[in-house]
Amino acid sequence: MQLILELKPLTSDDLSSVLEIDKACFGGLWTLSGYQREIDSPNSDLIGMFSTQPAAKLLGIGCFWSILEEAHITLVAVHPQYQRQGFGQVLVYSLLVTAMRRGLERATLEVRASNQTAISLYQKFGFKTAGRRRRYYQDNDEDALILWLSGLQSPQIQENLTNWQQNMTQRLLKSGMWLKVDA
Ligand SMILES: CC(C)(COP(=O)(O)OP(=O)(O)OC[C@H]1O[C@@H](n2cnc3c(N)ncnc32)[C@H](O)[C@@H]1OP(=O)(O)O)[C@@H](O)C(=O)NCCC(=O)NCCS
Repeated sequence: MQLILELKPLTSDDLSSVLEIDKACFGGLWTLSGYQREIDSPNSDLIGMFSTQPAAKLLGIGCFWSILEEAHITLVAVHPQYQRQGFGQVLVYSLLVTAMRRGLERATLEVRASNQTAISLYQKFGFKTAGRRRRYYQDNDEDALILWLSGLQSPQIQENLTNWQQNMTQRLLKSGMWLKVDA
């Protein structure tokens, strides 16, 4: 049976599944009340990627804060059982489209300097390294790289988003997955 994938804002009903992904991917980054605050905040977009068929399941989450004209991406995570199938790309795409529709100009984020998987994911979307925060992560004193993507409202990025969507949809279709996206 074909797997149907859907992106939608997370709600309080999803919180136990969100915490499961958070724990598996980050070892407990935010608490339940932390996620609830994101759901309640008008400046936060917390998006879930679900499979709706054959069974409803949360596969990944992504979040950004709108700060002035910037989308500050705070997390992207795919359940470990579902990684390496293109779902991380779908989540980043969805965050960027949402930010663009909100009228934001740029996207930025911090990522652990050793997290090559996430760095290559963001580079695929054109993110560039803009700086480094020394010893940003307190658990192991690791540096953070600051990544930027400018021109969210430019025709070039809008064309790129359309192309990314077509490529992702094709890739998923080849694996028997159908991605439902807004027009
Ligand atoms: C980072 C993360 C979201 C990627 O999710 P994913 O669904 O596996 O990513 P995708 O399958 O869409 O892969 C996207 C690209 O990332 C890179 N990538 C993904 N997994 C990789 C790996 N194990 N090694 C190297 N590059 C990898 C590749 O460039 C890949 O593109 P390709 O499939 O065309 O080669 C996932 O690994 C994750 O949840 N990690 C833990 C949480 C985290 O570190 N989040 C980022 C910081 S907020």
